[in-house]
Amino acid sequence: MLKSRVCEAIGIRYPIFQGGMAWVSDGKLAAAVSNAGGLGIISAMNADENYVRGQIQLCRSLTDKPFGVNIMLMSPHVEAVAKLVVEEKVPVVTTGAGLPGKYMPAWIEAGIKVVPVVPSVAIARRVERSGATAVIAEGTESGGHIGELTTMALVPQVVDAVSIPVLAAGGIADGRGMAAAFMLGAEGVQCGTRFLSAYECGIHENYKQKVIAARDIDTQVTGRKLGHPVRALRNPFVNKFAEMERDPNVSEEELSAFGTGAVRKAAVDGDLQGGSFLAGQIAALVKKEQSAKEIVDDLMRETEEILSKAAERVFES
Ligand SMILES: Cc1cc2nc3c(=O)[nH]c(=O)nc-3n(C[C@H](O)[C@H](O)[C@H](O)COP(=O)(O)O)c2cc1C
Repeated sequence: MLKSRVCEAIGIRYPIFQGGMAWVSDGKLAAAVSNAGGLGIISAMNADENYVRGQIQLCRSLTDKPFGVNIMLMSPHVEAVAKLVVEEKVPVVTTGAGLPGKYMPAWIEAGIKVVPVVPSVAIARRVERSGATAVIAEGTESGGHIGELTTMALVPQVVDAVSIPVLAAGGIADGRGMAAAFMLGAEGVQCGTRFLSAYECGIHENYKQKVIAARDIDTQVTGRKLGHPVRALRNPFVNKFAEMERDPNVSEEELSAFGTGAVRKAAVDGDLQGGSFLAGQIAALVKKEQSAKEIVDDLMRETEEILSKAAERVFES
């Protein structure tokens, strides 16, 4: 069986995280992934502490396995949620959209394992110095908020720069991607897009079908003008946003106001015109709905098969 320091450090069977996903990964999806042997992660997104507490309780009612909470450092409720995870003794915290350094001493003292998402070597080094248990090196192929470097380029550079385990994220949706991540030196993976089609994922059916129908070239990045690039599936909302971004007469405030609430419209209402359907470049590999357990089992089986036959594939006998 595939062995990894990530499993030992986090106390999970398989080195697979289901990434925190705003308006997508709630306590139910997280519990399903954790029960399947991976690490399910609840998204705290921009929600207040009462919502997050409710999702933690829901998750705990469905699993006794470790799970995580993803804290968006740009959230207006970040201070309250940062305290809540300590009170609730959440096993793992992942962070996105910023530097978690100021919160880390309290989390670590509470016994929480902190695994920040990083877009660069410098940030990986910084969070290692602050006591991170592991880091998630996330490439620009990912769905949601993205950095500049690709997974292929970022992961080995982060692996060389830190001594804590590295998980690879961005563009990984099957055993080929997961095996490749291990070849780059990663000791685990974080998948987001692949879990959008899980039965336990409560997003609107329109969202799931849009992911399942997606082709390789169907995602687009918008939001660079605001300093927060985001990858989503092309639709009228994304086209309009891109058009407004190119228009010098549209202010940043107008652009920001146009985008507000669009992720919710996609996930909750299934609004095909006005929603922002966040998804990664790998969406075209997601072909059907499956349970979280089937997804985790497929990933592990395929990865182990590929890695155990890797030499046969490339060397002549
Ligand atoms: C719908 C969606 C929402 C996301 N929201 C967040 C978020 O709130 N916080 C975060 O750190 N990452 C977020 N991500 C990134 C994922 O946690 C994960 O790292 C990424 O999806 C991995 O790349 P992949 O989509 O190619 O699998 C989101 C991704 C998706 C697809």
